[in-house]
Amino acid sequence: MCGIVGYVGKKDCTQVLIDSLSKLEYRGYDSAGIAVFENGGIHVEKSKGRLKDLEEKMKKDGRPYGHCGIGHTRWATHGEPSDINSHPHGNKRISIVHNGIIENYKVLKTFLMEQGYGFESETDTETVAKLLDYYYNGDPLDTITHILAEIQGSFALGIMFRDFPGKIFAVRKDSPLIVGTSEGENFIASDVPAILKYTKEYYLLEADEIAVLDENEVKFYNVHKARITKELQVANWDIDAAEKGGYEHFMLKEIHEQPTAVKTTISPRIAEGLPYLEESGLSTDMLKGYRRIFIVACGTAMHAGLVGKYVIEKLARVEVTVDIASEFRYRNPLIEPEDLVILISQSGETADTLAALRLAKDRGATAMSVVNVKGSSIARESDIVIYTHAGPEISVASTKAYTVQLSIMYLLAFELAYAKGVISKEKCMELTASLSEIPEIYENVLELKNRCQFIASKLVNADSLLYIGRGLDYALSMEGSLKLKEISYIHSEAYAAGELKHGTISLVTESMPVIAIATQQDLYDKTVSNVKEVKARGAKVFMVCREGVEVDEDVADYTICVPSIDDLLMPLVVSIPMQLIAYYTSVLKGCDVDKPRNLAKSVTVE
Ligand code: AGP
Ligand code: GLU
Repeated sequence: MCGIVGYVGKKDCTQVLIDSLSKLEYRGYDSAGIAVFENGGIHVEKSKGRLKDLEEKMKKDGRPYGHCGIGHTRWATHGEPSDINSHPHGNKRISIVHNGIIENYKVLKTFLMEQGYGFESETDTETVAKLLDYYYNGDPLDTITHILAEIQGSFALGIMFRDFPGKIFAVRKDSPLIVGTSEGENFIASDVPAILKYTKEYYLLEADEIAVLDENEVKFYNVHKARITKELQVANWDIDAAEKGGYEHFMLKEIHEQPTAVKTTISPRIAEGLPYLEESGLSTDMLKGYRRIFIVACGTAMHAGLVGKYVIEKLARVEVTVDIASEFRYRNPLIEPEDLVILISQSGETADTLAALRLAKDRGATAMSVVNVKGSSIARESDIVIYTHAGPEISVASTKAYTVQLSIMYLLAFELAYAKGVISKEKCMELTASLSEIPEIYENVLELKNRCQFIASKLVNADSLLYIGRGLDYALSMEGSLKLKEISYIHSEAYAAGELKHGTISLVTESMPVIAIATQQDLYDKTVSNVKEVKARGAKVFMVCREGVEVDEDVADYTICVPSIDDLLMPLVVSIPMQLIAYYTSVLKGCDVDKPRNLAKSVTVE
C-alpha cells in the first residue's frame, strides 16, 4: 500500500521526506511526490516511478528547500500510475497526500465541477483536495471537519494550507497513520519504520481525530474541534530491526528470524506447561463457550487459518469455517452472537479483513484478531487481540508472520480441546511442549537452505508447477504455491493430491514439476500413490518428507527431508522449506524478492 510521511522541524525537509519514504518502499508503490513550504508558497514535485525517479526529476525541475512538508508513495487505485495522478494533489492554497479510497468521490466531483472546479487527474484523492479548497474559510480545523462529514471510504490524509506555513494537519479513517514526535521536530507517517531514524516516540491517530503539528508541538482534536490528549507510544523496533541485518534481502532475514519470532510469540502464552491466553482477554470459559468459529483472512494469513481449522476441528471437535475476507463479507455468512470470528492479519490494516471484522461485530459475534502490528486498525477494533511478536515484517512475502500465526492457532486449538475435555491435561501439556520445541527445531530446518537452493535451481526454468498434498500437507501446498508465485512470477497451483485424477492431472507432463508434501503419516501411503500417478506421466517430483523415510526412486526424483515431529505440528516445519524454495527461485530469476511487481505489503484498499 502507499506511504504517507510529513516533517516539520529544522532539518532539510526534502531530504527527511525522501529518507522517510524510502523506509516505506516495502509497502509497494508506483509513483511518489512531495510538497514543501517554500518562499511563502507550496512547492510540489511528483513523478511516476520510484523515489529515484522523483529525485532525478527534482534535479531538473528544482529541489524544494524548506522545513515543513508532506510526502507520498502511491499505490494506484483510481487512475493509472502517472505524473499527474501522483500525489500530492491540490492547488496553490492547499496540498494533500492520501492513502485509501474515497468511495463517494464521483458524487463529490460532480458537485465540485458544478461549483466551477476543474480536475487535472483521474484520482479520487483530488476530489478531497478540491473539497477542502471549497470549504476553506481561513480555519483549517473547521475546513477539515467539514469534509469529514462528507467524504466516505478509507483515508489517511496529510494536509498543508498555504496560509499556515510550518504546520501539518493529519486525519484518518481506516487507513493507518501515526504522529512521530521529538525535540524540535514532529512527523506523520503511515508506519513506524519511516520515523525510526529520528524518533521512537509516536502517537496512534484514531479514526476522525485531527492532528496539528508544528516544530514545537503536536495537538490533537476530535471532530468537534475539542482538544484531546493521547497516550505516547514507544516503538520496540530499533532501526536495525527494520533494516536487513546483513542478509541480502529482508525475506531471507525474516525467514531466519522465525526461531526467535515463534519463541517470543508463544513463550508469554504458556504457563505451567499449558496454553495461557488470558492476558489477551480470552479466558478459557469464553473460548469453550463459543458455538462455532469463523476464521477470516487474506492470502498467507488465510492459509494460516486453514491449518487452524484442521487442528482445532481435529483436536477440539468444534466446527471451524475459513473464509477469504473479500468473499466472506458478501456471502451473508450465518454468524450468530454465540460465534467467535478470528481475523488473522500481519499488518492489521488489510481492508477486506477489517471489513469482515466489522461485519462480525455488527452481527454481535466476538471479533478476535491475531495481528502483528501493535495498535493497527484491526487490532484496535477487535474485542480481543492476540498480538504476534514477529517484529517488523518488511518483505512483501509473508514468512515469519505466517509461522507465528500458526503458533497462535495451535495454542488456541490445544487450549480449546483441553477446556472442552476432548483431550487430557497431559495430552495438552505434551502438545504444548512439542510446540515449545519448534524454535530449536527451526535451527536445524534452516540448515536445509542449501538443499532448497539446489531444488530451486531445478525449478527456475519451469513455466508452471503443481504443489500437492493431503490434509495439513494440502494446506501447506497452498502456502508454498503462493510464496513461489508472488516472488518468482512462476505460475503454480496447489492441489489436493487425491483430487488430481479428477481433471487436473491432464496438465501433467515431463515439463510440469510437482512438489509433493508428504509428512502426514496417516496419509503417507495414499499421497505416495498420487505421486506415482504424476510420476508415471513424466513429472519431475520433489517430495517433502520426514527424515528417515525411505523414498523409492519411482516415487520422487528429489527429496527434502525435514525433522519428524507430531503430525499436527508438521506445518510449522514444512513452512521453512516452502519459503526457502520460493526465495531461492526468485533470486535465481533475478526478481525483486522483497518488492515483487504489482504487490503491496499491506492491501489497505478493497
Ligand atoms: C503473503 O505472502 C502476501 N504478501 C499476502 O497474501 C498477505 O498475506 C495478505 O495480503 C494478507 O496481509 P495481512 O496478513 O497483512 O492481512
Ligand atoms: N486512491 C488514491 C489514488 O488512487 C490513493 C491510493 C493509495 O492509497 O496510494 O491515488
